[in-house]
Amino acid sequence: MALHVADHPLLHDIMARLRDRTTNCEEFRTLAHRISLLLVAEATRDIPTVAGTVETPLETAAARRVSARVVAVPVLRAGLGMLQAFLDLVPAAEVGYFGLERDETTAVARRYYEKVPPRLGEAVVFLLDPMLATGGSAAMAVDGLEGMGARQVRLVSIVAAPEGVARLQEASPGVEIYTAALDRGLNERKYILPGLGDFGDRLYGT
Ligand code: PRP
Ligand code: URA
Repeated sequence: MALHVADHPLLHDIMARLRDRTTNCEEFRTLAHRISLLLVAEATRDIPTVAGTVETPLETAAARRVSARVVAVPVLRAGLGMLQAFLDLVPAAEVGYFGLERDETTAVARRYYEKVPPRLGEAVVFLLDPMLATGGSAAMAVDGLEGMGARQVRLVSIVAAPEGVARLQEASPGVEIYTAALDRGLNERKYILPGLGDFGDRLYGT
């Protein structure tokens, strides 16, 4: 498994504002969208394309078009904050959903919903979940997707903890992880430090 920590001045600027405790829900949503655009561009950097041509107003130009079948799977709820950015960049993507919720006291994820497109094995599958903390949710989602036939899974996260990276690496060595920040660790409640707090709560104002 490879870990890709994206590095771009715009990404650092957005991350600073996402982390800021005074950033309100409306601004947080916009920032989540913008950072996801940068991350999705990074995570799709090597997807297959096919060569062809296009007629410009002046002449024929060489062109490349995406040829891979692409499936985006946001993890409910927080991953929904990354979906529109994904579809802005890959409009032809199919979309599946995975519903997971961490128990507030044990931090263990519970699977409560799933609906994914058929023939996942033929697609590059992008799991969208902004926080990789203990890795329990991501490992459960990847296991679920692989159980439904997925063979190429990439996790796009915004903040990752070393514990989560290690756990996912052990559970599913083939998964590629794209993130904007590899943070220090977890606190006693399994929140990422320094992190940005509860992503879903900040995204939706709960
Ligand atoms: C958050 C986050 C991940 C999970 C990460 O979701 O979006 O899915 O926690 O934690 P883990 O790596 O320790 O499993 P949460 O369960 O809080 O649900 P929500 O998106 O509905 O807020
Ligand atoms: N989920 C979050 O939203 N934030 C964390 O720090 C950990 C899990």
